Amino acid sequence: MSLFVRLFRTKSVARIQADAASGLSDHETGSTLAKELTTFDLTALGIAAVIGAGIFSTVGNAAYNGGPAVSLLFIFTAVACGFAALCYAEFASMIPVAGSAYTYAYASFGELVAWIIGWDLILEYAIGNIAVAISWSEYFSNLLAGWGYPIPSYFRMDFLTARRGFAAVNELLGQGQSLEVIRGMDGMASQVTAYEAWLNAPRLGELPIVCNLPALAIVTLITALVYVGIRESKQVSNAMVVFKVAVVVFVIVVGAFYIKPENWTPFAPNGLAGVLNGVAAVFFAYIGFDAISTTAEECRNAQRDLPRGIIYSLLICTLLYVLVSLVLTGMVPYTKLQVADPMAFVFGREGANLLIVERIVAISAVVATTTVLLVFQIGQPRIWMAMARDGLLPKVFARVHPRFKTPGFATIVTGFLVAIPSLFMNLTEVTDLTSIGTLFAFVLVCGGVLILEQTAPSAERKFRVPYINAKYIVPAGVLAAGLVFALYPPATAVARDFLTVTPAAGESWLGAVSHKVPFLVFAVGTLALAGLCFLKNLSLIPVLGLLLCGYLMTELGIVNWLRFLGWLAVGLVIYFGYGFRHSRLEMEAGEQVSG
Ligand code: ALA
Repeated sequence: MSLFVRLFRTKSVARIQADAASGLSDHETGSTLAKELTTFDLTALGIAAVIGAGIFSTVGNAAYNGGPAVSLLFIFTAVACGFAALCYAEFASMIPVAGSAYTYAYASFGELVAWIIGWDLILEYAIGNIAVAISWSEYFSNLLAGWGYPIPSYFRMDFLTARRGFAAVNELLGQGQSLEVIRGMDGMASQVTAYEAWLNAPRLGELPIVCNLPALAIVTLITALVYVGIRESKQVSNAMVVFKVAVVVFVIVVGAFYIKPENWTPFAPNGLAGVLNGVAAVFFAYIGFDAISTTAEECRNAQRDLPRGIIYSLLICTLLYVLVSLVLTGMVPYTKLQVADPMAFVFGREGANLLIVERIVAISAVVATTTVLLVFQIGQPRIWMAMARDGLLPKVFARVHPRFKTPGFATIVTGFLVAIPSLFMNLTEVTDLTSIGTLFAFVLVCGGVLILEQTAPSAERKFRVPYINAKYIVPAGVLAAGLVFALYPPATAVARDFLTVTPAAGESWLGAVSHKVPFLVFAVGTLALAGLCFLKNLSLIPVLGLLLCGYLMTELGIVNWLRFLGWLAVGLVIYFGYGFRHSRLEMEAGEQVSG
């Protein structure tokens, strides 16, 4: 078999369905996962995974850069996610197996891409959870401080933040500013805290010990819960989801009375570029509805209930998000929103001055981020379990605990993988990487639906993405966009940004050009896809999902792209070192030849 054929051999849908129907038990213990989840549980788990650090934390920065227009970004991102969600729903109704996008890619693109996506999903789940744990810690520490039990700042922040804060404040001190004046400057209060953490931290020799202990503690607790059982996890999650949704609705209703419409003007103070600056943060807020597909083997009726859970949870969260973003930017001037806890902040002294509401929001932020952690800690081990069953990871990752009916070993490894870095890592860098990784998964899932339409048109699907022929719509749309770009480049930020290559101070011309590469690749890909739409009558919704998610990826900056590509390169080395040789398909092919 040629290398090319080996790398791109698929696991047919019929075979995956047959494996699932015969009960996917762990070969060693004979145990299967426990079937506990209903449509309600799945919708709740979807909401549990979505509403968290994004809306409670990172959105503050997005609103600061984009102004009130960030609410439009919430709508645009929801549309992109909506198309991807429909594609996930179709796959979930066809392939009731725990691997989510990994298994979907195996069925459509073949083994190599499946591995790549399995590896990429670590960015969404494990690395994403590092960000959530950091955000959880921030809210939890503030809450404790409010109750009179402050955690020392050097034990509740990461090393890098402390070092940067120290450098930034030191520079201003060097210019003759006093610490109190610096603290009062826009966005500098948190830098001063970081400066103080660096100064006061206990030292190992010269090295300050700055680490995030609450993040470590919560990841350990959640991992223990996930290890013990899906029923226990779902019960805890459902109760918390009811509480957090109630609080978000409460924030919207109470906040609406404190909106000052003048805060909505200017609506987009920094133009389109300012709004697009928030892509990673806003997209991050939506991540999670797809995570419930990893529980396919624990659903009572996966093919019916999973599509519903995915779509319902995304709809509910979209509605809440758009309203929250309007309320936040309506209650205080957007310039004040560059804080780590924007939802609580708008009810604090600098906002509505409803301190009791501020307190409730802070509690619910802790609860909200806890449920996100929970669902992602559930998702990651199940993806590894699916990969291990296919031989791409060692068998031990597929082991199901005989008593708890959970993938025990994989759950513990996930715990370590999230807990240790969350002690030391920085929030922004992690969310950006998570967003690019998840968008990549969405792009491939949309692409997978298009491929299976051609290669497995009659495979049983309980839900199908509604078919609208893209034959003329997409080529016409691409042509129109191209004309607008060409005729009115200054009117579109994207075109202007793309067409002018102006190196920033100290930057080489090559460096400046490199920023355009993701968009250039996207533009070429779009043209090719438009051609395919015309030739093959592709389905519009997956095509739009692919294009919108692909476009959002181009907005994430070359630095993220390079990190992302570096991550994938490491994954490829591991694949060729292990999975390529241990793949179950490869073993079976070998047995057939020797038999
Ligand atoms: N959407 C999840 C959150 O915002 C990842 O925390």
